[in-house]
Amino acid sequence: MDQRKVKNIAVFASGRGSNFAAIIKAAKKGKIKANLALLVCDNPQAGALKLAAKAGIKAVLVKKEAEIIRHLEKSKIDLIVLAGFMRILSADFVRKYKGRILNIHPSFLPFFKGAHAIKDAFDAGVKVTGVTVHFVDEKIDHGPIILQQAVKVGKKDNLGSLEEKIHKVEHKLYPEAIRLYLAGKLNLKGRKVKIF
Ligand code: GRF
Repeated sequence: MDQRKVKNIAVFASGRGSNFAAIIKAAKKGKIKANLALLVCDNPQAGALKLAAKAGIKAVLVKKEAEIIRHLEKSKIDLIVLAGFMRILSADFVRKYKGRILNIHPSFLPFFKGAHAIKDAFDAGVKVTGVTVHFVDEKIDHGPIILQQAVKVGKKDNLGSLEEKIHKVEHKLYPEAIRLYLAGKLNLKGRKVKIF
């Protein structure tokens, strides 16, 4: 589908939702020009649910993929934005929404995939790590890369300060990637994303 025709976005989140908050802020400012129509959440304790309620965004608590698909269809969702969603989506799901699912990962992919990327990078002693926004494909933390930003690990950094630095970058990079998508600026061919 034409990226510029996206009307409705669903954000998927399982946790505190700081990226979701950054996306809500960008939408309010008019940087993200589409409707944040739905929050898909699988954790009743998630901070993201409170953020949705505060922003007047419909939220659904789900367990199974079939339920997710039903909600996506009901809300006429065109674009899915994963923001700390801790469930792995099936290959069938990913194929159904090919080119229409974005994810943010807190490392400079392809390094440090998985659920503990910031800690893994810190423990490995790297001097540079980063943030990646990518299209989702059938493999975990693997799809075509849209935007990346490096984050230096300073001499004085501890895990907490590195996490803070990474999240700060995430909160700028994700809205920017979504903006580019909605503006039709991303050309996806194979594993390459050209930005116009
Ligand atoms: C972020 O670090 C994101 O990169 C990863 O999960 C975390 C979610 O954090 N996929 P939050 O819930 O948005 O605060």
